[in-house]
Amino acid sequence: MSLGQIIDGKAHALRLRADIAQAVIAAQAAGARAPALAVVLVGEDPASQVYVRNKIAACHEAGIISIEHRRDATLSQAELLALVAELNRDRQVDGILVQLPLPPHIDSAAVISAIAPDKDVDGFHPVNAGRLATGLDGFVPCTPLGCLRLLEATLGDISGAEAIVIGRSNIVGRPMASLLIGASATVTVAHSRSRDLPELTRRADIVVAAVGRPEMVRGHWLKPGCTVIDVGINRVAKESGTGTRLVGDVAFAEAADVAAHITPVPGGVGPMTIACLLENTLKAASRA
Ligand code: GUN
Repeated sequence: MSLGQIIDGKAHALRLRADIAQAVIAAQAAGARAPALAVVLVGEDPASQVYVRNKIAACHEAGIISIEHRRDATLSQAELLALVAELNRDRQVDGILVQLPLPPHIDSAAVISAIAPDKDVDGFHPVNAGRLATGLDGFVPCTPLGCLRLLEATLGDISGAEAIVIGRSNIVGRPMASLLIGASATVTVAHSRSRDLPELTRRADIVVAAVGRPEMVRGHWLKPGCTVIDVGINRVAKESGTGTRLVGDVAFAEAADVAAHITPVPGGVGPMTIACLLENTLKAASRA
């Protein structure tokens, strides 16, 4: 029997999105124009197309204007940099999102670094990464921000808690660690070279799994009563042999027997990522 309380990311995200829609209406009543997000999608990656479609629909629902810039996978890096420069200059554009991954002939780091830091609603620009790491205000990447929001809504104050972040990517693991340090947790960052990951994980009151390995974190790795945030979205074959299903980085049924709180996949972190993108876009528009 499952003991853990499931953290309803979808419900949290819907509340946040409703708050943002209200704030957009209030800003317009005070004379501001609607916030505007430019979304750049290069190529035909199917997952990226779904993500971009969902982001644009969420913008629309919150009263945020989204301007989609779709380009062929053959777009050159120089052409993409020219588009980013044009969006940087455009005073009607508050936020710029370049969907990743980019085609292999384009240097993603160069493109991210070309985005104006104050329009970087993904929070991937090195200036925003530096602001986060040094405790300054800036844009925080949407997925770890969503994870922090879920943790605070579930646990309240997390100061002094033992937290482990499994994964050290620039998009999730590293910014997540910075956010947890900012919230005064005691933070361990584990990765593929870490020794005895089960032992490290068993110490933690908070486990954030962001490794991209289906169901890697097992129930017996967890401290009873801990809180598990599962960032993984992995598509695996169904046991029946036909079709696929989505699983996280955590073996959910086992983990739910040990943890006090756990996010499901889907319906946990994913919806919060989009809500936090809207929040960042509203913030970019408010600062313009
Ligand atoms: N690809 C996967 N996740 C993200 C994200 O949060 N932002 C962008 N721009 N691309 C992504």
